[in-house]
Amino acid sequence: MNLSTILLAMAPAEQAAPPPNDAQGGPWSMPIQASTFAPETDAIYLFILVLSLISFVGIVGATLYFMKAYRRRSADQKTSSITHNGKVEFLWSAIPAVLLVVIFLWSEVAFMKQVVPPPDAIDIRVKGQKWFWTAEYPANPGVQLNNEIIVPVGVPVRVTLTSQDVIHSFFIPAFRVKRDAVPGRYTTVWFEATRPGRYNLFCAEYCGDQHSEMRGVVHVLPADEYEAALAEAGRLEQEEGESLAAFGERIYVRKGCNACHSTDGTTKTGPSWKGMYGAERTFADGSSGTVDDNYIRESILEPNAKVVSGFTPQMPSFQGQLNDDQITALIEFMKTLK
Ligand code: CUA
Repeated sequence: MNLSTILLAMAPAEQAAPPPNDAQGGPWSMPIQASTFAPETDAIYLFILVLSLISFVGIVGATLYFMKAYRRRSADQKTSSITHNGKVEFLWSAIPAVLLVVIFLWSEVAFMKQVVPPPDAIDIRVKGQKWFWTAEYPANPGVQLNNEIIVPVGVPVRVTLTSQDVIHSFFIPAFRVKRDAVPGRYTTVWFEATRPGRYNLFCAEYCGDQHSEMRGVVHVLPADEYEAALAEAGRLEQEEGESLAAFGERIYVRKGCNACHSTDGTTKTGPSWKGMYGAERTFADGSSGTVDDNYIRESILEPNAKVVSGFTPQMPSFQGQLNDDQITALIEFMKTLK
């Protein structure tokens, strides 16, 4: 099983849109090269890999040869007195030193390019939290995407990262970029996508039991389709002819509720929504109540008010992230999960 197959198997399955297509296409089974950084990063990686292979074969080969050539031939054979060989000692120090300096300089030059974004980069703010990503576009107020980032091709993008809870790591393999999202501070990473497509976004820092579920899609579009797609993706309203429950199901996926709440009875971080509406619940403080419209609304806006017994208060408040119509639609969706 090579890297491509693994990445392909990890692609988000619940997305209705086609899965990320970055699993194949790069050199040596690596993901496709989809940013301006990718070719150079891969070249350095392959340089170090080939150098390591040559060193490995050389060292192990010499060891085997010496074992045979200088083995003890009889019980009374004495070890001859060993002096030193200046020429050989110089070479085995100088050659690796030069190679290490080459690796350092090449990597440093490539790394510095990734530190400071060009001044004309567009801004995206990304927040990580257990266990999903939220993206906001300062130039497009109101657009808030969950587990999805839309970027134009051929335009530098600066991503300012932070975290709501623990350390996460923002990793786009196809772009060869990775940066930690740290609570209480901002970190930045930038890239310029070079080919349209859908690419995997992973969390690359173990952040709790749903860490492997914390993934999204980077959607790279031609520059002239970018603004329209962003406006469309940011719109989360009931469509013409769409039932309230169907709209609620879309919100369930788009807003990342699915990261912690199953619809099939499986217990994830939060209670499953299956059969939840109308059920009796005991809360952590010993009180109890019925799951009705008001309880659900309160739990979305103030998740810690009544935590179901057996669960920990981990849910973030969705105050300001969901309007009344969207909450109503979610409740209607919950009612259908018998
Ligand atoms: Cu977030 Cu791992």
